[in-house]
Formats: sequence, structure tokens, C-alpha cells
Amino acid sequence: MAVGVFGRRGGGGSLMFHFDYDDRGQLCAERVPVSAIADAVGTPTYIYAKATLERHFRVFDEAFQGHPHLVCYAMKANSSLAVLELLAARGAGADIVSGGELRRALHAGIPPEKIVFSGVGKADWELSDGLEARILCFNVESEPELSALEQVARQRNVQAPVSLRVNPDVDAQTHPYIATGLAESKFGIPIEEGLRLAEHIRRSDHLDLVGLDCHIGSQIVTLPPLLAALDSVLQLADRLRAQGHGIHHVDLGGGLGIPYQSESPPHPSELGKSVLDRMKGRPETLVLEPGRVIVGNAGILLSRVIFRKPTQARTFVIVDAAMNDLLRPSLYGAFHDIWPARRAQTDGGREVVDVVGPVCETSDTFAKERSVPRLERGDLVAFMSAGAYGFVMSSNYNARGRPAEVMVDGDRWAVVRERESLDDLMNHERGLDAFGGTEGDAG
Ligand code: LLP
Repeated sequence: MAVGVFGRRGGGGSLMFHFDYDDRGQLCAERVPVSAIADAVGTPTYIYAKATLERHFRVFDEAFQGHPHLVCYAMKANSSLAVLELLAARGAGADIVSGGELRRALHAGIPPEKIVFSGVGKADWELSDGLEARILCFNVESEPELSALEQVARQRNVQAPVSLRVNPDVDAQTHPYIATGLAESKFGIPIEEGLRLAEHIRRSDHLDLVGLDCHIGSQIVTLPPLLAALDSVLQLADRLRAQGHGIHHVDLGGGLGIPYQSESPPHPSELGKSVLDRMKGRPETLVLEPGRVIVGNAGILLSRVIFRKPTQARTFVIVDAAMNDLLRPSLYGAFHDIWPARRAQTDGGREVVDVVGPVCETSDTFAKERSVPRLERGDLVAFMSAGAYGFVMSSNYNARGRPAEVMVDGDRWAVVRERESLDDLMNHERGLDAFGGTEGDAG
């Protein structure tokens, strides 16, 4: 097994990469050849390495040791119950964005007092469910949300714990679809408005200000934007404290990037060091909401080549995974490395191809003009770094069942979510039966 930088093969650093070739040239997840999994459960299939997940969580958590802190895993990145249970057992909390995520987090054993609830559009039932569960706090993103939360709390005759999500107007220097900290984005509250809303909270019998938070974007590969955001949150905390507000925690959000291709994001320990420098002597607990950095490089999507299609313009390699299974390349032009399940013997067999899925959209393309080892019909390939925002963004487009999910633990593996069957896809439908009676009765 190769020693790698955080979640990646090659280079220095302290972390292991758990997808690699064995002596016989077979791609393995930990000690299990991925071809064995494909033979048993078919493809496309997501495969997660338990050891990588454990390690990434531990290294991230340890990076903030020395200051009271809570790692609330951003479960939108991968909300598989197996992943959640594993992280819960290691002390993780959760950052949730919906009533559905709340339900899954509690089901997986994440204690409610370690759950923070983010999101710009929480419905009343979601606010109510969060209050019922007694979560740590609601990360409130607007005045209307604050009023709605106050009203729901009043109806239940409780006090709602509020953390104000401020928008520090920092450029995260990432893909515009996943940048959230600029003034023009829909997320968070301008700093000055935060001061005003804190007064609203002070006057309310049903609201309690417990923290401040921010989240400026995702796949951030340099420290300065994250630290600038933290600085403005801490300044606001100081101003609020001077006015007599109790701020128990500050939440830096998530966003630390991972290497997909040639990026070299800071190691969590570098982030930890700079953040802890700023937190020295401060009274607030630090909350963090990492998603991608925990699971991104802990998962791959395994797929099989259906056809080679040489055309005059180029050669297409058509695989059985598609944009409905892994949306990131279509939606963001995201890069995922492609590794054959059997290591090519020589470099001579490489060719430049487009790797595409079967869905009827030109955007159903995983790689354009990519140099890959020659792939034949029936070959297995892995899309690497697919553990975050992979399965969770899958859909049933083109009436395709969503992939199976498998977790590997050393030389053992288990299906942690079965492949969706074609019957599953029709289970909640009734067709014209929904009207009751047969056609013609209506008249
Ligand atoms: N906290 C909040 C409030 C968030 O909105 C997010 C991600 C996170 C934490 C976790 O961020 P991370 O540590 O994973 O960067 N689907 C996109 C990413 C969307 C991120 C949404 N928010 C992708 O595939 O790149």
C-alpha cells in the first residue's frame, strides 16, 4: 500500500491511500480486488474504504486538538448509514441541511447535541423536528428564518438555540457553483445585519443566541480565504460579546479541498495550526463542518466498459456508469481520475479517448480527450475520488436504478446499500389507477 498525502497516492505525508494495485496488478480496495466485488454485485457500484474514512476523520479531528472542538461531519457529502454509523462511533457530530438528513443522522446514532442544522430554506416541519430532537443549534441564514424559528419554538413552548450564519464576503476561489461566501450568494447574513438580529434574539423568550458560523464554499485549496472568514466571524463575536451576548461556539463551516488531479490543498494539520493560533485564549468552542475532506478520497465508482466506439472525430469508451450515478463531471466539469481495474503492463497502450455514459445527453461525459490505458469491452474501470457528492447526487434519470454501495474493511466487504431494482423505481407510482376505477367510469 502506498503512503500518500491526505487521501492521495504518492508524495509525503502521513496518510495511507487504500485504493491501490496489488503485486498481481489488480486494483484493490484495502485488500479486496475490486473485480471480486464487480463479479458479485455487478456495476456500477460505489466502493468505500473503511480504513480511509476512519483515518481521515481521526487526522482531521486531531488537527484541532488543543482547543475544545466538535467536528460536525457535513453529511450531504455522503449520507450512507454505514458511513454515518462509523463516524458516529468515533465521536463525530453532523451538519445537516434537511429533515431527511436529521432523520438519517439520528438513526445512525449521532447524538442530537452534536447536530447543527444549516440551509437557507428550512420548512416549518424541519424546524419543528430539529426542536423536538433538541439539536445543538440552527444555523440561521436570514431574518425571515429567525422569525419562523421563533414562531415554531413559541408553539412548542421552548427556546430555540440559534447560531447566526454570517456571510463574510470572501472569495473562496473555487468553482462558482460551490462558492457561497460572496455578498451576491444566497447564503448567510451580512455582518452588520448579524448585530441587529442578535438584538432580536435577545428580546425573544423563544430564541437563544449560542454561536456564530460561516461557510464560504467547497473544494477550497488555499488557506487564506478560510482564515479571512474566521477572522471576520471572530471580530463579530468580540463585538457581540462586548454588547453582553454569550457566544458559546464559532463554526468555521467546511470547504477544505482534496486532490482530484494536480491540486495540493493544505493538510488538515496546517488548517488546524492556523485556526488554533487564532483561537488561543478564546472562550468559544470551535465547530467544523468538513464533508469532502473526510469522504472524498475514501470512495470510488466502479464501472464496466460496454462498448468502444471509434468515430472519425474520436474514440468513445462507453461505460455502464452515467451522469445519473456520478453527476460532478457533467455539472461542474469536475475531474475524476480513471484507473483500470487491471494495471496496464506498459505505457505503450495508452490512447486519447472520451469516456462517456449511456445517458442520452452529450453532457453525460466523464472525461474528454483523456489519455487512458487502452480499454476494451468488458474491462472494469474506477472513477477515483468519488466518495463525496457521488451517490448522494445520483438520480433515476433515464429510468436507471441507483448504484449499489459497498464498504470494504481489510479483506472483508459488505453491500451497505443494495442496487435499486427496476421494480423499486415503480414502487411509489400508481399510473391512472390513482383516479380510482377504470377508464370510462369518470363520465
Ligand atoms: N457546511 C455547509 C453549510 C455546506 O453548505 C457545505 C457544503 C459543507 C459544510 C461541506 O463542505 P465540504 O467540506 O464538503 O467542502 N456538490 C458539490 C459540493 C457542494 C457543497 C455544498 N456545501 C461538489 O460535488 O463539488
